[in-house]
Amino acid sequence: MARRKALYQTVYHRLRYQILSGDWPIGSKLPPERHLADEWRVSRNTVVHAYADLEAEGLIFSRVGSGRYVQPLPPPSALPPLDWKDRLSGGANLCAPSLMTELHALVGTRSALNFAFGEGGPHTRLKAEFAKGIDPLHILETSEADYLFPVQGHLELRGWIAEWMGCEQVTSPAQVMITSGSQEALQMTTAILANPGDSIAVEMPTYFGALHLFQSLGLHLIPIPMDGEGMRVDVLEGILSRSRPRFIYTVPTFHNPTGTTLSEARRRQLLALSEKHGIPIVEDDAYRHLHFDQEPPPPLKALDRQGNVIYINTFSKVLFPGLRLGWVTANRPFMERLTRSKELSISTNTFVQHALWSYLQKGAFPAHLEEARRRYQRQAAVMDKHLSALVAKGVSYAKPSGGFYDWVSLPEQVSPKELLQEAIRQNVVFATGDLFLPRETEQPYIRLCYSYETEAGIEKGMRILASLL
Ligand SMILES: Cc1ncc(COP(=O)(O)O)c(C=O)c1O
Repeated sequence: MARRKALYQTVYHRLRYQILSGDWPIGSKLPPERHLADEWRVSRNTVVHAYADLEAEGLIFSRVGSGRYVQPLPPPSALPPLDWKDRLSGGANLCAPSLMTELHALVGTRSALNFAFGEGGPHTRLKAEFAKGIDPLHILETSEADYLFPVQGHLELRGWIAEWMGCEQVTSPAQVMITSGSQEALQMTTAILANPGDSIAVEMPTYFGALHLFQSLGLHLIPIPMDGEGMRVDVLEGILSRSRPRFIYTVPTFHNPTGTTLSEARRRQLLALSEKHGIPIVEDDAYRHLHFDQEPPPPLKALDRQGNVIYINTFSKVLFPGLRLGWVTANRPFMERLTRSKELSISTNTFVQHALWSYLQKGAFPAHLEEARRRYQRQAAVMDKHLSALVAKGVSYAKPSGGFYDWVSLPEQVSPKELLQEAIRQNVVFATGDLFLPRETEQPYIRLCYSYETEAGIEKGMRILASLL
């Protein structure tokens, strides 16, 4: 009995994962029960039962005489009713706090070995370096009437960003807006492009902050699966022939959480699809500058011939996330609309923009960035050494060539959530893969971030994880 139950659970969760990750795209026909039962070597009854539960959950539907199909994902369920819910109507779709919020709380309370956070750890001494590069009093005494700072942000800083981007599409500060981190950029962009109930195409898995945002705005997500070359543009093509998402969201370079980079050929195919179907691309390029040996292919924005790409980036990964400084660059009508949105919150923190500008003027940033790349590369190598030793135990992963993350598939018998619980007891934290999917689900992945810990910390944490496998 226990085995039968376990087998059913495995089949159900495997099917669910394939749907949520976009491996079986929306609208696609599911294999007939008998075929699947033969292929997975289970009884037909087990498959029937799993299909019935997925149908009850709204993930698939049947068409009489024709079989079963993948249903477009419904928006997440609303918050449970509160006594004062009328007051909260604007947040009706807000999701529950994510596991990441819980991990933040946990890491704040004790000295955990941290493979969960996507940032450089205290050993990088970045904040101290940054502080050395600025003079707060000087900024306060010399900055112009701060409250009337341009809504788009510090002019020279925007000019510096345009130059740093180094592409012919972005040449003037007028094309750049500074935002409160790239998260705000993504939030304003999404709110401009899509209304609740609209669909958007999203590579799956994806950055959980984007997922959280899209779900809280009540959007339908069309999951596009990924492989070693990034987003499966061929699957997207099939989807665009049947539906019109409001935009395509992608993290094409050193993707969070998988670490993959979209090849240049696929970048060109993706742009061609965007042009053919008239669908904007939102390019979130947070990790672009963190390559190890080889520079990644050019941003989609640099290949954009029609102004279809809305480009978002941040200083969070190359400096530190507490700065809360990111930027957007896009075509002129979009930037005008974005300025109207930004006016609603006056502007991004003026003092911090001045501070960043003074730091950049001191000229230490290029050397810092180079050092950061080397440091993360060394940390990645330590992680890689431990992961490669675990391959014999059934672990699999693809070695990243930049960014912060290893996306690791665990042996079949190991549950990521149970592993996390055990790891937390031994003071090690990481993110389970379901955080990066639209719904909680059983799946085999964990995300190990190597940027936060020192090499010694990675050694220690990985020895603990290995002992738990
Ligand atoms: C892909 C991606 N976009 C955006 C962000 C958020 O960056 P910011 O701190 O600029 O809001 C992150 C942070 O993890 C990320 O991984």
